[in-house]
Amino acid sequence: MAGNWKMNKTIAESVSFVHMLKTAVSDVKDVDVLVFPTFISTNAVYNEVKGLNIKVGAQNLFWEEKGAFTGEVSASMLKDAGCSYVLIGHSERRQYFGEVDKTVNKKVKAASLNDIVPIVCVGETLKEREENTTFKVIKKQVKESLSDLSQEEASKLVIAYEPVWAIGTGKTATPQQAQEVHAFIREIYSQLYKNAADKVRILYGGSVKPDNVSELMKQSDIDGGLVGGASLEVESFIKLVKYFKN
Ligand code: 13P
Repeated sequence: MAGNWKMNKTIAESVSFVHMLKTAVSDVKDVDVLVFPTFISTNAVYNEVKGLNIKVGAQNLFWEEKGAFTGEVSASMLKDAGCSYVLIGHSERRQYFGEVDKTVNKKVKAASLNDIVPIVCVGETLKEREENTTFKVIKKQVKESLSDLSQEEASKLVIAYEPVWAIGTGKTATPQQAQEVHAFIREIYSQLYKNAADKVRILYGGSVKPDNVSELMKQSDIDGGLVGGASLEVESFIKLVKYFKN
């Protein structure tokens, strides 16, 4: 269960959140708990949860190792700050910052090389869904974002299906709609990397909330959630992590 905090929370707020979270989820064994603060809070959050069952990730990275790339952060720098995961190609990055499948692919490789698990985001817009091009769009995103990986890299990464029309809108995909696309993603993935498709984890994101999480997680190809709004309040995020008790 991954909480994408997007551009929210100061360093103090981020640390205070995980301080409360760590006690509440200390008994959780079967769910990987991940939080994605802003770059500047990652290290402070990591120091608060080091060695515990909460892992820290970043929301982006740049594929070069170092150099004159003003404003960017490399995979090795994220590793140094304590990040073990990184979100790549989130629809907000595609929409506002010009991220495309080709750059997503470079970032996936840089993350893998530095032993950081990439969570690669794909998803169609409302227009694309209405035009019945969802599967075509998803196929292109999966193939191009995830090309030329080793079998090992391919089995370790995580894919997040986030229909753009469901993000921050309160409109969740129905469990059936989500399952249909998840199964399709696994199928495409199996064509690319035969043995990795069973191992790859596919998260659903888009208005996941404590009251709809259980139905979504029951679907056979939904392996977890990538949550924005409902991950910002600690009580709500705890409920999501403990969804099996809902
Ligand atoms: P919401 O849960 O706020 O819809 O955001 C989803 C998301 O973009 C997670 O990455």
